[in-house]
Amino acid sequence: MIDFKEVISEKLGNNIDVLKSDEIKALIEVPPNKEMGDYAFPCFKLAKEYRKSPMAIAEEISKSIPTGEVISKVINVGGYVNFFVNKEALAKKVITQVLSEKKDYGKSNIGEGKNVLIDFSSPNIAKPFHIGHIRTTVIGNALHKIYASQGYNTVRINHLGDYGTQFGKLIVAYKLWGNKEVVESSPIKELLKLYVKFHDEAEKKPEMEDEARAWFTKLENGDEEATELWSWFREESLKEFQRVYDLLDIQFDSYAGESFYSDKMQSVIDELKEKNLLVESEGTMIVDLSDENLPPALIQKTDGSTLYLTRDLAAGFYRKKTYDFEKCLYVVGSQQELHFRQYFAVIKKMGYDWYKDMVHVPFGMVALEEGTMSTRKGRVVFLEDVLNQAIEKTREIIIEKNPEAGDIDKIAREVGVGAVVFQELSNSRIKDYTFSWERTLSFEGETGPYVQYTHARCCAVLRKANQVVTPEVNFDLISDEDSSEVLKVIETFNKSILLAMSKNEPHIVTRFALDLAQAFNKFYHNNPIVVEDDGVRNARLALVEATRQSLENALAILGINAPEKM
Ligand code: ARG
Repeated sequence: MIDFKEVISEKLGNNIDVLKSDEIKALIEVPPNKEMGDYAFPCFKLAKEYRKSPMAIAEEISKSIPTGEVISKVINVGGYVNFFVNKEALAKKVITQVLSEKKDYGKSNIGEGKNVLIDFSSPNIAKPFHIGHIRTTVIGNALHKIYASQGYNTVRINHLGDYGTQFGKLIVAYKLWGNKEVVESSPIKELLKLYVKFHDEAEKKPEMEDEARAWFTKLENGDEEATELWSWFREESLKEFQRVYDLLDIQFDSYAGESFYSDKMQSVIDELKEKNLLVESEGTMIVDLSDENLPPALIQKTDGSTLYLTRDLAAGFYRKKTYDFEKCLYVVGSQQELHFRQYFAVIKKMGYDWYKDMVHVPFGMVALEEGTMSTRKGRVVFLEDVLNQAIEKTREIIIEKNPEAGDIDKIAREVGVGAVVFQELSNSRIKDYTFSWERTLSFEGETGPYVQYTHARCCAVLRKANQVVTPEVNFDLISDEDSSEVLKVIETFNKSILLAMSKNEPHIVTRFALDLAQAFNKFYHNNPIVVEDDGVRNARLALVEATRQSLENALAILGINAPEKM
């Protein structure tokens, strides 16, 4: 297989003695427009070393590089050395590789033997699984697929919020106003009502907060009634979460949530004491982080009860011991930035350098058009409703446009859910955005259904041709501009995945899928595929199959199915 960048950096290396070959390779870019070439090497870095202008250096280098089988032309443009690759060699490389590797195209085993933990989704028990959770859930799942595709052993952890003072509140509310049958008929909606009512009432009667704290302490001490209620809330909530995970086809390797660490915090607290890191402050126990420029980390409240942070600390040690992770990612909203900085800083102060392997992967907030979402005020959009509406709408469109598509329920599910997931993965994580029903349910433009439709279009062409597609074709016949554009995108697949992995940004793979769909649709509109001429037909079909396979693989990495008909 030819790696164009490799070939180019080797040729450049023969002319540049001040950079190592991997440094050269890392500098190679793709020029903004294709008339300028397929790859470009900037000479600005060299200008200092050689005490010459970048233009002069580019001119010199471009003249001394011989062209040949892979590189067909070398020119210099404003301080860049630009390379034109042989389009036939490109076609041969891409087609041969995709058609032989199939579902493995894009994969590697660079992560073999290394554990990557992904803490994601992690909803709070007895609270709705709302649209705000979709980001952590689908970004986390995509990161799992991205790492797994490169051979890492991933561990998907759902760090359920199943512990903490809010359970005291819920117990108080349930004992005052709750009804077993009503809760069982619609657990989360009912528990949410109780939670909201608690906050309304507690505003008038602040002593209710004390009562709630007392119930949580009871729970921490293993009180029977408290434990029974708590575990019932937990079970009923999990049943609801499971329905959403089933819709999204998302699985976890561990559901060890906050409560799992209730008996694992003491040893961390003891170690903090031993290391003289735990200090008393107004009755609470804290770790001073002023030398890290952070506010103190609160470890224990006045009444001795523990906090979210205490449980994360215990989880960190448990995970390090259990999985000896290479990396532990926390896919959690940007509002928790400070929490994670404090958490990692405490581990650092304790003298462990694996704090460096823990990464907070933040994402922006989802707001509603009517304002910020608020669980306490009951202003939420349920994720399950969003997914179900997307499926419904898709079903209507398919029945109208393509009633013969086959298993309409299955397709509606794959496309409807795919639309929601793809939208979530379309932007860089950190951007806040406002949830809009209209945009989520619109299938026009740069959407998941558009990519899925392009995949189905490839399938339709292949069905129509009804012949065996092989990589033994005349590559010269797909070295024209439209074909080369498609092939050039396909060629970047593995690099896109690696980049997405290094930045923990699945949207880079989303972008790949959109670029490929666009390039392919252009090719499709300009070139008839199932033509009389055997040579042309075979070559173009090979290109269609390479596109189809690459789209399928890219969608799979995003956690989206690729139906053959829609
Ligand atoms: N349950 C938390 C929330 O909904 C997220 C937990 C994230 N994971 C963690 N280890 N802190 O905000």
